[in-house]
Amino acid sequence: MGQILVTGGAGFIGSNFVHHVLEHREHSVVVLDSMTYAANRASLDRADPERCRLVEGDICDRGLVHDLVGAADAVVHFAAESHNDNSLSDPSPFVRTNLIGTFTLLEAVRATGTRFHHISTDEVFGDLELDDPAKFTEQTPYNPSSPYSSTKAGSDLLVRAWVRSYGIEATLSNCSNNYGPYQHVEKFIPRQVTNVLSGIRPKLYGEGKNVRDWIHAEDHSSAVLTVLEKGRMGETYLVGADGEVDNLTVLRTILRLMGRPQDEFDHVVDRPGHDLRYAIDGTRTRQELGWEPRFTDFEAGLADTIKWYRDHRDWWEPVKAATEAKYAAVGQ
Ligand code: NAD
Ligand code: DAU
Repeated sequence: MGQILVTGGAGFIGSNFVHHVLEHREHSVVVLDSMTYAANRASLDRADPERCRLVEGDICDRGLVHDLVGAADAVVHFAAESHNDNSLSDPSPFVRTNLIGTFTLLEAVRATGTRFHHISTDEVFGDLELDDPAKFTEQTPYNPSSPYSSTKAGSDLLVRAWVRSYGIEATLSNCSNNYGPYQHVEKFIPRQVTNVLSGIRPKLYGEGKNVRDWIHAEDHSSAVLTVLEKGRMGETYLVGADGEVDNLTVLRTILRLMGRPQDEFDHVVDRPGHDLRYAIDGTRTRQELGWEPRFTDFEAGLADTIKWYRDHRDWWEPVKAATEAKYAAVGQ
């Protein structure tokens, strides 16, 4: 495989994946990113310019997408509107990018025969009860809750239909909640860490009983590369690292690691339709592909992530005030 086209490669997981590929393989990478509020050029600063090129453009741009897909040996599709809270305030960019954008890529893949890997989320399955021993498996029916997750579910179905109807060479992966460097400060963990670093009290939605299944972005990257290289065409692979933790516990761990009192946070308005719990059963992916997560000590991963935000204030400070103003406007 020579050149990989990475859509959304200037965002959180996309940029982590680009660095992972450049470090572990000899491929060159072209990033296609429209540089929305969620992107940051600086996330690609340490990528070798000889091997990594950023094209600023929209995945809904048919001509551009056709040319870039045709020139690539594989496409890894991360580009999306990714934040649930934003999708509740204004779903329209979610419908456009997540559905029309994925459709545009699929049509280019159909025309050019390029290998395609689609990045999706465990949120397509809806949520689980807090006391339910069950986890999501490949057999769990789709039941998305939010405008964000419903557009991701729709994009997955488009990919599956293009495999079945047109025989495109595609795989899918559905991963749980990622954390690590380069994550936008709108998201839970970086928001709380940068709140503490900015002298703002952390904000917990509701009682904080909701459970998320955390995985380090580096483990997600190695899983995606494994599926790209070894996955069976048309298959969906669930990716997780058995990292279930409730939000209150995550917040208290952050406060402890940052030397702040355990009660130094505010309870704020809960997210409408807030999914209770996500949990991935990744057994089949591990058994079939031999992939294993490596960064499974969540507290050590959090400590590294806190250090990264401490050391990279120039990366997040320019967008912090605007992000908090947006939350304040809706009581969060
Ligand atoms: P992000 O919001 O940090 O990055 C998304 C990137 O896509 C940004 O750089 C943005 O500029 C780009 N983009 C948006 N619209 C575009 C368009 N029309 N054309 C070109 N580029 C566009 O998101 P993330 O958290 O890195 O998520 C990446 C992917 O992984 C998404 O598909 C998301 O659904 C999926 N995912 C995320 C998580 C998570 O925990 N963050 C977990 C599982 C799956
Ligand atoms: O499960 C995978 C999904 O994980 C991805 O598909 C999404 O792209 C990604 O954003 C993430 O979705 P969540 O909605 O779970 O992530 P978020 O970081 O927004 O919130 C995590 C939990 O923390 C959730 O229960 C809401 C809560 N929360 C969030 C924020 C921003 C708070 O309590 N306070 C906050 O300030």
